[in-house]
Amino acid sequence: MQKWQHIPILAQTIKELLITDREGFYIDGTLGLGGHTKVLLSALGQAARIFGFDKDEKAIEMAKENVADKRLTTFNLSYLEIPKVLEDKNIKGVNGILFDLGLSSYQLDDASRGFSFMEKGPLDMRFDAKQTLTAKIIVNTWPADKIEEILSAYGEEKFASKIAQAIVLAAREEPIETTWQLAKIVENVCPRTSKTHPATRTFQALRIAVNDEFGAVKGAPKILDKVLLPGARAAFLTFHSLEDRIIKKALKELCLDKDSWRLVNKKVIEPSWQEIKQNSRARSAKLRIIERIK
Ligand SMILES: C[S@@+](CC[C@H](N)C(=O)[O-])C[C@H]1O[C@@H](n2cnc3c(N)ncnc32)[C@H](O)[C@@H]1O
Repeated sequence: MQKWQHIPILAQTIKELLITDREGFYIDGTLGLGGHTKVLLSALGQAARIFGFDKDEKAIEMAKENVADKRLTTFNLSYLEIPKVLEDKNIKGVNGILFDLGLSSYQLDDASRGFSFMEKGPLDMRFDAKQTLTAKIIVNTWPADKIEEILSAYGEEKFASKIAQAIVLAAREEPIETTWQLAKIVENVCPRTSKTHPATRTFQALRIAVNDEFGAVKGAPKILDKVLLPGARAAFLTFHSLEDRIIKKALKELCLDKDSWRLVNKKVIEPSWQEIKQNSRARSAKLRIIERIK
């Protein structure tokens, strides 16, 4: 198996703020390659347990190999399934849960997944290979107004209308099969004006749409009361301003019930410049942590 990498972001801070019981039960809702889980396990005792969830089967396989610890049990499921898994296993609740949202560097770097215009690959972009909707289906079969809508809503793309029209016109000529074909179509109507590739927002928007990422992000805070024990914490790491806005609002709403919930960090936590220097992916990261009081 090829060795891919993903450096866990704000891992030490998450370890310090998420662990409230060294022998407790924790959930990594977005296991990825297991980077955060490994750091958490390094601070946990032998009786502690982590359930790791990921929609990406390949990521789960790599995480098992990277972490190689019997305290970890993996589930190739969405984090929205956590309450059901706990109920099936008769587990009353856990001491902490982590959501490191978005995609991992490995997914971006693996050309066969189609997430990046830097690599030539099939226009796939699915986290879960069992799902039928792909980016290829969207660009080749959706009407221009629906494509425009996702480019605006998930990519905050100024030229959403122009790009959507160009995609639909190009797809009428010949099927758009690859990341490079799509990047070229976008580049033709939006010439490069800055360091950022003009297709960046289009690719981000398609990925979010393919995986219904915002649907899942909106659902995540709603499972907390079914999953967390009193005194337990949930950490949310986001990389997208819209995603952070959803989490910030949802946590604020939970905290209206002051007797039951409190924010662990009133001010959002961001990586230090040293971390950003070492890992440029950390630059847009924002961490919010909430605690269940009772
Ligand atoms: C940023 S990565 C996590 C990296 C991980 N923390 C590490 O240190 O290796 C996000 C992961 O979440 C997964 N993911 C995205 N949406 C998900 C969902 N609804 N349920 C479970 N996993 C999801 C992706 O497949 C990806 O592997």
